[in-house]
Amino acid sequence: MQNSEEAKKRITELTEQINQHNYNYYSLDNPTISDYEFDKLLEELIYLEKAHPSLLSSNSPSQRVGGTITKTFNSVKHQYPMLSLSNSYNEADLIDFDRKVKDGLQLNQTDLFGTNTIEYVCELKFDGLSIGLTYENGFLKQAITRGDGVQGDDVTVNAKTIKSIPLQLKGDFPALFEIRGEIFMPKKVFEQINLEREDIGEAPLANPRNAASGTMKMQDSAVVAKRNLDCYLYYLLGENIPFSNHYDNLLKAKTWGFKISKETKRCFGIEDVLKFINYWDKERHQLPFEIDGIVIKVNNYDQQRQLGFTAKSPRWAIAYKFKAEQVSTLLEEITYQVGRTGAITPVANLKPVALAGTIVKRASLHNADIIEKLDVRVRDTVFVEKGGEIIPKIISVDLTKRPPGLAPTKYIEDCPECGSKLKRKDNEALHYCLNEYNCSPQVVGKIEHFVSRKAMNIDSLGGETIEQLYKAGLIKNYSDLYDLTKELLLPLERMAEKSARNLLDGINKSKDVPFERVLFAIGIRHVGETTAKKIARKVKSLERLKLLTKEELLEIDEVGDTIAESILAFFKNENQLEIIKRLTSAGIQFNLSEEQLSASTDKLSGKSIVISGVFNKYSRDQLKNFIEQHGGKNVGSISAKTTFVLAGENMGPEKLKKAQSLGIPLITEDDFLEMIK
Ligand code: IVH
Repeated sequence: MQNSEEAKKRITELTEQINQHNYNYYSLDNPTISDYEFDKLLEELIYLEKAHPSLLSSNSPSQRVGGTITKTFNSVKHQYPMLSLSNSYNEADLIDFDRKVKDGLQLNQTDLFGTNTIEYVCELKFDGLSIGLTYENGFLKQAITRGDGVQGDDVTVNAKTIKSIPLQLKGDFPALFEIRGEIFMPKKVFEQINLEREDIGEAPLANPRNAASGTMKMQDSAVVAKRNLDCYLYYLLGENIPFSNHYDNLLKAKTWGFKISKETKRCFGIEDVLKFINYWDKERHQLPFEIDGIVIKVNNYDQQRQLGFTAKSPRWAIAYKFKAEQVSTLLEEITYQVGRTGAITPVANLKPVALAGTIVKRASLHNADIIEKLDVRVRDTVFVEKGGEIIPKIISVDLTKRPPGLAPTKYIEDCPECGSKLKRKDNEALHYCLNEYNCSPQVVGKIEHFVSRKAMNIDSLGGETIEQLYKAGLIKNYSDLYDLTKELLLPLERMAEKSARNLLDGINKSKDVPFERVLFAIGIRHVGETTAKKIARKVKSLERLKLLTKEELLEIDEVGDTIAESILAFFKNENQLEIIKRLTSAGIQFNLSEEQLSASTDKLSGKSIVISGVFNKYSRDQLKNFIEQHGGKNVGSISAKTTFVLAGENMGPEKLKKAQSLGIPLITEDDFLEMIK
């Protein structure tokens, strides 16, 4: 153990290095070390901080994982009011803005090229929530949301989990200043979260902006940390700001560690601004995050001061809002989809039409209320828009084009798949088919979920085969999988000896899947992967889970009212109990073994590990279990995010090449076993 002085020195060194690597990775998009090397540094820091708790700073990069629970966020007054921007929608508005700027500066207007050209800075208008960050002596002190512009919520604990927000600055920063910017959720993260929500039967989040602001209001900062929010900064405030123009200050702020958009551009005169706008109007769809316009700011601070503010917004800046692209097309048919949970989604089938870079054929109609509100009818011409949402939506009906005699849409009353009566539960917008054990998409969907990678991981069984088995009457629920035999399978079309054997092997192997994943696989509504893990580790067996009262369930981390009710309902269902009984006799793990319990650690926590090649001591599945038991994540393909490759013999040449080019370390089976010993 190092003495306190040595530890302090090393902690400072590690903090600086880690901050620099975070900056390279999250702000510059240019990592210079592998994730594995990065984790080593972080591990050492965490170890030292644990050994010397008095040296732990609340701005340490180890605190990015969150974990603080905030019941209510304090309301704090902004040092400088957080104003908004006035909006413009077309060229004429912008030319008018330029004219007013010149008037305000008492410059004459006749300047085409040369005289009196105003220097503007054009920036992307990020679609998220605005945030004000205060830094004192280089440390992040406070992060406040806009609120009503006068006071906002102190969300510092949540902001600290966002990796592109520096906790400690480098270089020659002012002793005290505020920097403002936008917190947003990248499109990919948003899509991933919605896939996961869909998987556990929860309504998707509407758009990345709502998702970002909802996330920042969450009480558990550890959940915020997992949501991978990001933050661009665009406005510096304070007494001792280094330069007398906006653009140079932004460049300077970048050197202190902030994420500044590389698309920010100086433009000379309003014509130049219009070019920037026209470029991004077309190209914005290629960005990995949503923008809803362009912000135009007068660059020079003296000019900004001269122009001043109105009550609501600065006179030296304006937002240009993109038109959400809209087209009109024919609604050919309304169909209804039945999901795994029985939820019905009405879908508008449209005459294909080009919109915002893609061909749109379908749009969600969400639920019966929306259909009624739009009064949309088959054969209507409808306006379709792609705004902040990724799925296009129907905005309105072009009534001038409605053919005479169209009857209002009558929402279906029976399930389009199985014919049973639909129910609409109190306070829910959606209709449900309750025939969960006999309605084909529900049955197939539940089995698909059961065999999926994060659940029982039976990868020899794809969606088509499940449907084939179901249609042939061989499976009615996932417990029937364990009664399949070669004799039953071989008569099926496209089922050769080898594929039958693979399939049965895969099913057989799933009996080793640990309880926590089984609990996710059986598909209790609202119980996602993480919740299942928490419940399994706490309760340790399905038998015990079955006996818990609502109050006892609520004591489990992550279990709230909805989940508790859903678990109780699950175990009240006779059909379900019968299925569980059959899974138990098939040998599925419904207990966390003592061995598993005592063997699990968080040694691999936060690590993404790819398994490749052939191993001597353990099977790939066993190695996968080890990874999970120790808190790691087994992923399929190598990327810059991979921590290391657990490499056996005969690793594929493509994988090898990729690992080498990204500098991802290869770890042998023995080294790995040593690591988790
Ligand atoms: S500057 C006084 N720059 O848009 C000037 N705002 O409608 C303060 N926004 O409240 C704002 N990107 O939340 C500025 N590059 C950008 C921006 C931006 C997004 C947001 C911000 C602001 C709102 C104004």
